[in-house]
Amino acid sequence: MRPELGVCYYPEHWPEEQWATDANDMKAMGLSWVRIGEFAWKQIEPKPGQYDWGWLDRAIETLEQAGLKIVLGTPSATPPRWLIDQMPDCLAVDTNGQKRKFGSRRHYCFSHDGYREAAVKIAKDMAERYGNHPYIQAWQIDNEYGCHDTIVSYSDAAAHGFRNWLEAKYKTIDTLNDAWGNLFWSMSYDRFEQIELPNQTVTEPNPAHVMDFRRFSSDQVVRFNKAQADVLREYSDKPLIHNYMGRITDFDHFKVGEDLDIASWDSYPLGFLEDRSDQGDDFKHNYRRQGDPDFQAFHHDLYRAVGKKGWWVMEQQPGPVNWAPYNPVPLPGMVRLWSWEAIAHGADVVSYFRWRQAPFGQEQMHAGLQRPNGDWAEGAEEAKQVSKELLSLDDIRQTPADVAIVFDYESAWAWEIQPQGKDFDYFRLVYDTYRGLRRLGLSIDIIPPNTDDFGDRKLICIPGLFAWSDNLKKAIARFEGRVLVGPRTGSKTENFKIPMNLPPDLRGLDVEVTSVETLRPSAPVPLKENGNFQIWKENVTTDVTVVQITRGGEPALLQQSNVFYLAGWPDDAAMDNILQILAKATSLDTHKMIGGERRREFGDYTLISNYDTGTISLVSGETILIFE
Ligand code: GAL
Repeated sequence: MRPELGVCYYPEHWPEEQWATDANDMKAMGLSWVRIGEFAWKQIEPKPGQYDWGWLDRAIETLEQAGLKIVLGTPSATPPRWLIDQMPDCLAVDTNGQKRKFGSRRHYCFSHDGYREAAVKIAKDMAERYGNHPYIQAWQIDNEYGCHDTIVSYSDAAAHGFRNWLEAKYKTIDTLNDAWGNLFWSMSYDRFEQIELPNQTVTEPNPAHVMDFRRFSSDQVVRFNKAQADVLREYSDKPLIHNYMGRITDFDHFKVGEDLDIASWDSYPLGFLEDRSDQGDDFKHNYRRQGDPDFQAFHHDLYRAVGKKGWWVMEQQPGPVNWAPYNPVPLPGMVRLWSWEAIAHGADVVSYFRWRQAPFGQEQMHAGLQRPNGDWAEGAEEAKQVSKELLSLDDIRQTPADVAIVFDYESAWAWEIQPQGKDFDYFRLVYDTYRGLRRLGLSIDIIPPNTDDFGDRKLICIPGLFAWSDNLKKAIARFEGRVLVGPRTGSKTENFKIPMNLPPDLRGLDVEVTSVETLRPSAPVPLKENGNFQIWKENVTTDVTVVQITRGGEPALLQQSNVFYLAGWPDDAAMDNILQILAKATSLDTHKMIGGERRREFGDYTLISNYDTGTISLVSGETILIFE
């Protein structure tokens, strides 16, 4: 299948006379897809039960006449004012107990039954009308779950739902008390109705309580999404999509993905570099116009795993955004590089956000493919180039990578709840491992924590996993490649207790973590060969082979048969050394990357992208197809 390009369009923002020109221009520049509708609730249903379908019918007709395929969004991310007036308690409540207000978006609480029903109703109305429409080729449900910190809500609806969820899970209050360890600090409950949400406690709440609340909050997203998915499927057989975000771990994307067909995500490399990268200021300065060379790739690989029948970039940054601390113009070549990189990681569609810069509203400083007056903006030229280049490629395929990393949303919640040291962050730990593998020029798969078979892969990395799943243990037991476990992996049970066997609690790995410490940035622990442990270090007792030690002589990397255990969080230099040892042990074909150079193998092709220069080259077998 040849990947396609698309764009996000808001016909309701522009005079109707302009729509046909827009649609024809989209088609002429090589776009195949257009996403519409995801914030247009008020335009579709101006008053409760009164619909204005006319404009949307005409917009769809105009786009289809130009030959574009349409993704129609359900508008549940933006409940209109009349709906808030009808059910004011559907607003989400923050950790201080403050209601979030109307006036932007994503203001609803996932636990509110009335709101969920309202969202299903508008989705059903749209599906009834457009479900069989030949040019509606896909549906997007809602928009960016979790963006603007909107998963966890401390509303009455959430409290009520949480109690029911707990009762369904534990059946009796004694079971819950036992599971949570509530005899600590006299916290035992007599009845489920006594349990409150874990905010505004005097000091920290019980981690097991918070963990269940985070699981509940994630399940609410799954339920909310599934309710819309079910109703859309009654009227349409087209694929269902959600557009996820970068570095949002507040809900289990794998579980939401089970009810959808395609995973997509919104890729804003420059915004993410400034807004959600752990790298220092020099790095941010150097890559200010390119973005972090690994951040996009990580999410491409993640969402490839989340999407059951494919994955897309639903929103691709085409120029400066408006929402990061600094919003530079991309280096020439980057819009093309980002697009190609997504394609190399398996994107079926790369869709730019947005068609034309809006002259009004919150995002008037956000670039589009066109300026507010309809002139072409810089990003458009590069998108046009990609659309031409794509035509010269044969069928593009993905093959499983030799290396995989386990990524687990529960672990992200667990270590947020109990970081033990200020700098411990699960995403960062996994991402540091990923970056290390990328510096070796490896292609990587990300896999969920309940994987029961690693296939023919050669190396599996499992950093920081909160609690083992039975499946994962099985997969390790039957795997013949190498596994890198740790640090902190298997250090809790499902109920947030320390396992009585002591971590990592893995049969066949005779290592016991006897104590752990977290490290100030000023006090890393040097390793004998290269680099340091930073942030987190473990003391272990073991009889197995010690492969690496600290400069003080303590075990740092251990090995028993094909399983390695890493007893600390390596900095980049230590990570490079450790991964090289693993790569050698597994005969992985590595390619040392210099600076911002990165590599991705897909099917018969290899894409080499250079984040320092904004250039790419594509290699196929013996042939080097250098674009520029
Ligand atoms: C995304 C969102 C879009 C738009 C865009 C701006 O997070 O889905 O609606 O706000 O960011 O960069």
